[in-house]
Amino acid sequence: MTSLFPVLTADEAAALVNDQDAVSFSGFGHAGDAKAVPLALARKARALHEKGQPFAMRILTGASSGHVIDEVLAEANAVCWRAPYQSGRALRSQINTQKVQYVDMHLSHLPQALAFGFFGKVDYAVVEASEVTPDGRVFLTTGIGCSPTFLKYADKVIIEINTRQSSRLREFADIVVMPRPPHRDPIPITHPLSRIGVPYATVDPRKIVAVVENDEPDNSVAFTPPSEEGLKIAGHLVQFLVEERIKDRIPYDFLPLQAGVGNIANGVMAVLGTHPDIPQFTMYSEVFQDSLVDLIETGRLKGASATALTLSPDALTRVVNNMDFFSDKIVLRPQEISNHPGIIRRLGVIAMNTAIEADIYGNVNSSHIYGMDIMNGIGGSGEFTRNAYLSIFMTPSVAKQGKVSAIVPMCPHIDNNEHSVQVIVTEQGIADLRGLGPMQRAKSIIKNCAHPLYKEYLYKYLDTARPGHIPHNLSACFELHENLLNTGRMLPDLKLP
Ligand code: COA
Repeated sequence: MTSLFPVLTADEAAALVNDQDAVSFSGFGHAGDAKAVPLALARKARALHEKGQPFAMRILTGASSGHVIDEVLAEANAVCWRAPYQSGRALRSQINTQKVQYVDMHLSHLPQALAFGFFGKVDYAVVEASEVTPDGRVFLTTGIGCSPTFLKYADKVIIEINTRQSSRLREFADIVVMPRPPHRDPIPITHPLSRIGVPYATVDPRKIVAVVENDEPDNSVAFTPPSEEGLKIAGHLVQFLVEERIKDRIPYDFLPLQAGVGNIANGVMAVLGTHPDIPQFTMYSEVFQDSLVDLIETGRLKGASATALTLSPDALTRVVNNMDFFSDKIVLRPQEISNHPGIIRRLGVIAMNTAIEADIYGNVNSSHIYGMDIMNGIGGSGEFTRNAYLSIFMTPSVAKQGKVSAIVPMCPHIDNNEHSVQVIVTEQGIADLRGLGPMQRAKSIIKNCAHPLYKEYLYKYLDTARPGHIPHNLSACFELHENLLNTGRMLPDLKLP
């Protein structure tokens, strides 16, 4: 490879990074993540630790990241601080035992937090690209995330040129970096596919200290087919949307959709996309998952805005092999824009996210088991839920073969609260909370969403709660969670089928 910039091996580039450096990596939900340098940093950490020397970094990414950052680097004890989202087993366990400090935050806030130095200086940006030009144009690959901001604010930059990623991926990119307030104009996005930027991020070329060549694929996992439960959730949700449209509470030509991460969301999109009473639609969402490829191919989905293509290898190949067809139907934006509250409100997005649990009043916990142990993080769910036209949460009514109810008296951690959450769906049914007072909400959620095994307990809780605008029994509101912690079951005497 010929380059105006120093071409180094991944190990040589990793050698530049010092203990306690703040390192920002490209990548958003496995898409477009830096791959070779993080692995080399893990090797470096292990070697130094074996010699009794310290090495751990403060790590930023767009959101969750590929296996190498949240698993391999964590296993090498090379992470001491992490933001803004993660989803790795190894890192999760280190966060929950206080070995790693974790800042779980709204994803669209990250660029501004960096620009104003809330996290201190960023020593390095390590960013995957298909090309970097001598004047500093950086063509990103499958994930835009926060990379444009990392490139702007990091002191030094390492570019991983990924020769496997198609250079035509740049046709999806629409990049703007917001100026600092108060020098911001209205963002002229009036349709999910509006384009307002350029297809590349920019960097001061003098900051590039290394270019590393790499050809590893994104480490995304293929989705499993939706479970029976997931299909029931999708069925209730789609029926609800169809009825809302008939009642003219959703415009006849429909509204842009946002779907959260994971298999349930993927399954909902697949069901929604094939329903004869749902018209062609668009998406203004955070990630672009597998089911959407089919929907664009069949013409059901007219186009989608996202910040990353979190596709399985097969789905990505289908897209890049057919770029002439896909290029004007997908727009990839920086996360500050894909998740921007003002645009979400302007477009009237219907937001559909997944909960770990919901309480009987409509507060939702998506991030902390027992309110204590992090699962992943709030991600973009808050910015979509708070600002959507319609905010929906989905979850199976029970977890762990029925030992856990996902409908509880009070959530011990709340990511999205009763003021923003409008609809809750489980495989049991759907609770439309709009216009209901707290007691009405509780009755609707228990009746429509709770699993039959837990209904009696929840009604009894409500009956014995201290009256008030929001009735509660403060000494019993976390009884289910305490039981779960102590016995592995929310109701130890409950006979499970
Ligand atoms: N209590 C205890 N454990 C629970 C539980 C509950 N109420 N609900 C689920 N779990 C456990 C599951 O059993 C599973 O455990 P395992 O890993 O040991 O198998 C684990 O939590 C994950 O549950 P699962 O149903 O597989 O989750 P998922 O893949 O559908 O993801 C969220 C659900 C909520 C974790 C995920 O959607 C998320 O991180 N959301 C927050 C971010 C977000 O919404 N981003 C999108 C915005 S654009």
